[in-house]
Amino acid sequence: MAATAATSISSPLKCGLFSSTPGFSWSTRSLQFKKNERQNARKASRGVITAKFDLKPPPYPLDALQPHMSRETFEYHWGKHHRAYVDNLNKQIVGTELDGKILEEIILLTYNKGDLLPPFNNAAQVWNHTFFWESMKPGGGGEPSGELLNLINRDFGSFEAFAKEFKTAAATQFGSGWAWLVYKANRLGVGNSVNPRPSEEDKKLEIVKSPNAVNPLVWDYSPLLTIDVWEHAYYLDFQNRRPDYISIFLEKLVSWEAVSARLEAAKARAAEREREEERKKNEYEDDDEVVDNSEPSELYVESDEDDSAAD
Ligand SMILES: [Fe+2]
Repeated sequence: MAATAATSISSPLKCGLFSSTPGFSWSTRSLQFKKNERQNARKASRGVITAKFDLKPPPYPLDALQPHMSRETFEYHWGKHHRAYVDNLNKQIVGTELDGKILEEIILLTYNKGDLLPPFNNAAQVWNHTFFWESMKPGGGGEPSGELLNLINRDFGSFEAFAKEFKTAAATQFGSGWAWLVYKANRLGVGNSVNPRPSEEDKKLEIVKSPNAVNPLVWDYSPLLTIDVWEHAYYLDFQNRRPDYISIFLEKLVSWEAVSARLEAAKARAAEREREEERKKNEYEDDDEVVDNSEPSELYVESDEDDSAAD
């Protein structure tokens, strides 16, 4: 893992907490992506270890998902592709203003309202793959239960309708990308996010797909489940049969327990954010009241002057 806690790859279950990170700034214009060699030299001379991300392993052995996802696929997909994203990200951010930030911060800052900055693809792919591994488990699949199933039934009509829509999204993502189940509790124009689906119907589940490395964090959605539909995810096991890979993922691999835990965390975060917004709103209104109390004397003076002029 990373050299310091502040720069570790935080669990995807904790995603979305970055907006309250101390010192977090949405300003991206001042970011310096050129390595600051002098700063690095100073750090080295003081014995400071430059923070870096490590490759997080899946929460099960590499052969645990066989025969549905082979060990060979994991050896390439996790062992080579995921590792390359981690290594490349570390090279890109060392000595920059991104060095030392948590992964979610780096993703949002470098998304840059869709005008991607260089480290975005590697940062997002590191996050996406960890989230993907943790979306599966040996003996997974089937149907969810409890609150998650209730919301799926409410927002899609039935589990079968959800599965059909998810499969369609994953199968029709042109080229490389991802399909996601998300919890949408967003506000518009939050921070650096760009919300593609403005709606008054928040607090609901939605299915979205994203190209290349893009993930729903940049739209201020809370990801609950994802499937990687880059060819490297399925070609060794399924060749060009992407629909078969998607079906096996839903029927045999999904960890609905992980999805349910993410839903619970997303709802808790949304409630916390509402409370925080309410608190700020009340503070703002209190400040207004202070201003209001000071206004009558000025109005009286102005009114008095006006009367004199009229005379
Ligand atoms: Fe992948």
